[in-house]
Amino acid sequence: MLNQEVSKLLNEQINKEFYSAYLYMDMANYYSDQSLNGFEHWFFVQLQEERDHALLFRQYLLNNAEVVTLDAIAAPDKQYTSFRDPLILALEHEQFVTASINTIYEAAYKHKDFRTMQFLDWFIKEQGEEEKNADDNIKKFDLFASDPKGLYMLDNEMKARVYTAPSLVL
Ligand code: FEO
Repeated sequence: MLNQEVSKLLNEQINKEFYSAYLYMDMANYYSDQSLNGFEHWFFVQLQEERDHALLFRQYLLNNAEVVTLDAIAAPDKQYTSFRDPLILALEHEQFVTASINTIYEAAYKHKDFRTMQFLDWFIKEQGEEEKNADDNIKKFDLFASDPKGLYMLDNEMKARVYTAPSLVL
């Protein structure tokens, strides 16, 4: 069993991760509509990673004999007025998720829940990578996408992203 404050935050994180998957699906849909299939692919891979994150939180709760409660997933409400918009919003969203993971870590630390802190270590590192990826996308877009040829080549690069299952196994 876990401390109930920690357990509640872990449950809420399931919803946040599924919302992330939903948000990135919305971005993939936008890029598909714009015929930028590399960007679409990149966000489709991202949505799979977010789904995996949600399932890791679920499994961790179950492994600790905690009740899993599922809330409604909010509809993404972002409006995209340029190809750059989703990239900016993705970085902001990852910063939000990082803060959320940090809040759980803080609660676990407060309650001397070392098991949860160890579980979250993987996510602390993962968030560093996710923020870096999101930041790289913005920088590459600003460097290369100012003309159609550059955008075409960047779209092809985005297409090369490969989905890999999380290295954390519970
Ligand atoms: Fe699951 Fe993008 O953080």
